[in-house]
Amino acid sequence: MSCKLIHLVAAARPNFMKIAPLYHVLKTSSWAKVKLVHTGQHYDLNMSDVFFRDLCLPAPDHNLGVGSGPHGEQTGLVMTRFEQLLLKERPDAVIVPGDVNSTMGCALAAVKLGVKVVHLEAGLRSFDRSMPEEINRVVTDAVSDLLWTPSCDGDENLRMEGIPRHKIVRVGNIMIDTLEMLRSKIEADDACQRLGLQDKKFVLVTLHRPSNVDDSAILTRICLSLIKMAQFTTVCFPVHPRTSSRLKALGLDASLLHQGVRLIDPLGYTAFMNLVFGASVILTDSGGLQEESSYMGIPCLTLRPNTERPITVVQGTNRLITPEQIVDLVHKSLCLASGTRHSIPLWDGKTAHRAANSLQEFFFCEGQTC
Ligand code: UD1
Repeated sequence: MSCKLIHLVAAARPNFMKIAPLYHVLKTSSWAKVKLVHTGQHYDLNMSDVFFRDLCLPAPDHNLGVGSGPHGEQTGLVMTRFEQLLLKERPDAVIVPGDVNSTMGCALAAVKLGVKVVHLEAGLRSFDRSMPEEINRVVTDAVSDLLWTPSCDGDENLRMEGIPRHKIVRVGNIMIDTLEMLRSKIEADDACQRLGLQDKKFVLVTLHRPSNVDDSAILTRICLSLIKMAQFTTVCFPVHPRTSSRLKALGLDASLLHQGVRLIDPLGYTAFMNLVFGASVILTDSGGLQEESSYMGIPCLTLRPNTERPITVVQGTNRLITPEQIVDLVHKSLCLASGTRHSIPLWDGKTAHRAANSLQEFFFCEGQTC
């Protein structure tokens, strides 16, 4: 069996958690030589390096250093720099996770050079093309050779877009692998204790979507709700850099702090998940948190009109809400908070193994029975 060179793309905070379990499985496979390619879309210590440490990932083999910028510029830089690397190394396949600009940029650069593209977390759709991530998902799926979906809705969406059935493999949710792989470290972390947060006595808030934080009127309305919440519960809010600069520009950071909302810097994986485990309610616009909270049975209020993860609403703890509903629904959720864990098929900690098996079949068993 010949050894296949695989580029595993890391780029931005939510994707480090998706590639880690797969990296560890592929690293032990005799048929695969895996190289980590960081595009550098996220680059701050607490947006990138700390995740490599927490997830036991080595330093990337390559860092394309693209940094921040407008969509066209950032995606263009990813394509230009990744193309140069692809021409030099000629990998047998590129694995791109999630839906960030680097996901699409790397997929496009690879497919145009005839390099096989594998999409980890394929098929998710919010059906909202005003979201940059939705464009990235649709384009990436359209050019991928192998599409790994986390749930049945992903398979259905791809079939409706005309993707041939043989390209779609439902492997499950890889974020759950990471959570289970690091559960004991998460439980042993002292983040809640350090921050003086009592178990099941606080609301954890994360916000970074342009639709919530880039518009001054919407962000101000959300912050007023957080201030009202702080009058009846503890509110802990690790602030994403995009959100941080918007809060500072509007002078809202000082008002929030003054009114008792606990603004903190972004945290690494185990520290942040320690807060997730301890939270009574989560208020968020993140994709991954909708899944992690559903898996853990923690009530999740998602500040968005739609979700590409409908299974978390139908089978999990997730509820989509508007800014006007925040205070009332957080209050109600705190009164009702229960700890029911949800069991969603293939969210079982074994996704990385299924993905690696699927890739091995893709390389070595095409057209044969393996
Ligand atoms: C990106 C993804 C989004 C994902 C999110 C997770 C796209 C289109 N969006 O959004 O899907 O949910 O990551 O965080 O790819 N910045 C820093 N330090 C960093 C990284 C960013 O300060 O390490 C600041 C910069 O000012 C930058 C801004 O954050 O302009 C936004 O970063 P960017 O990667 O463009 O988008 P995100 O909002 O992080």
